[in-house]
Amino acid sequence: MTIKAAILGFGTVGQGIYKIIQSKRQQLYKLLGDEVELESVLVNDIQKERALPEKIVVTDRFEDILSQRPDVIFEATVGAEPSFSYLNQAIDQNIHIVTANKVMFAARGHELLQRASQNVGIGYEATTAAGIPIIGTLKTLLQTNQVTKVQGILNGTSNYILTAMQEEDKSFSEALHEAQVKGYAEADPTNDVEGHDAFYKLMILSQLLYSRQPVWSEVPLTGISHLGQKDLQAAKRRGEKIRHVASLEFVDGILKGRVEPLSLPSSHGLFSVEGVDNAIDVTGDLVGSVTLRGPGAGQIPTASAMIEDFVQIWQARSIRLQPSLL
Ligand code: NAP
Ligand code: HSE
Repeated sequence: MTIKAAILGFGTVGQGIYKIIQSKRQQLYKLLGDEVELESVLVNDIQKERALPEKIVVTDRFEDILSQRPDVIFEATVGAEPSFSYLNQAIDQNIHIVTANKVMFAARGHELLQRASQNVGIGYEATTAAGIPIIGTLKTLLQTNQVTKVQGILNGTSNYILTAMQEEDKSFSEALHEAQVKGYAEADPTNDVEGHDAFYKLMILSQLLYSRQPVWSEVPLTGISHLGQKDLQAAKRRGEKIRHVASLEFVDGILKGRVEPLSLPSSHGLFSVEGVDNAIDVTGDLVGSVTLRGPGAGQIPTASAMIEDFVQIWQARSIRLQPSLL
């Protein structure tokens, strides 16, 4: 049997998924017992040149994707809609879904999770901190712990800009341009530099940990666009680094979030997080403090998280289909 895959969105991330399906063909076969074949791709503009073989359907109509009856849909488009409607339809047809779209998932991910039957897997590791397996860690490895605090650098573009400004004396716009060229920034980089992207990721973590989110309008939210060389160099003279930090605290049943730039002393756990890296420190009542760090944006790290999600989903499905494996 062939595992039929579709990709929604063939930009930085979508192309990364295709590259991994090709470059890891044998490894995927070994893990899944079947070949993964990309059969169709959904885009906005079908006139654009795409480096894809002719046999792969490239379309701007979601019906064409569904008519191929894919086993899995990798969703890497932009914005809350039409992605949410598409994934809802996919769930109704028992198609597994894996998404990188944090704008959609922060607002409506819980609806998708509620709607999906046991037979449909939903992967969303790539929505939060790209290559860092924070979702999987919280979901499966810290289940008994009561997590009281999460604090992290959740936007790769902002961290890339702050590092380049402070360490290499680059201007804000020069550093942002580099982040865009490297494929780190959102289609609209306002989301990155005004803190919205980190906010969405924090809300996804909140939903996962506490099955709810703080009231969005009550979360103090500041980005990095107002910061200039003067601020960064002043921090440097103090022996500090300015980092964009998102935090969530759960104390006495009250959930509080904040997203803001902070000037961190060298003793702070997030002080040394450089470039496009993200890091997340999780405090659990049993384990204490655990920090995960790694690439927070970029084509292959993001696509890596999506492929790993799919491998888990497919392996879990195989176990369900063959109870004797348990
Ligand atoms: P991108 O390079 O701008 O690519 C977006 C792709 O989606 C394009 O192929 C575009 O089509 C397609 N698209 C957009 N709206 C569409 C619609 N309504 N219907 C069909 N296709 C549509 O963006 P990206 O960087 O790959 O990011 C994709 C998603 O992954 C976003 O939700 C982003 O937040 C998330 N993400 C990105 C990263 C990263 O490092 N880049 C990391 C984690 C998560 P055309 O090609 O025709 O324009
Ligand atoms: N634009 C996002 C970032 C992509 O820079 O962190 C990863 O979610």
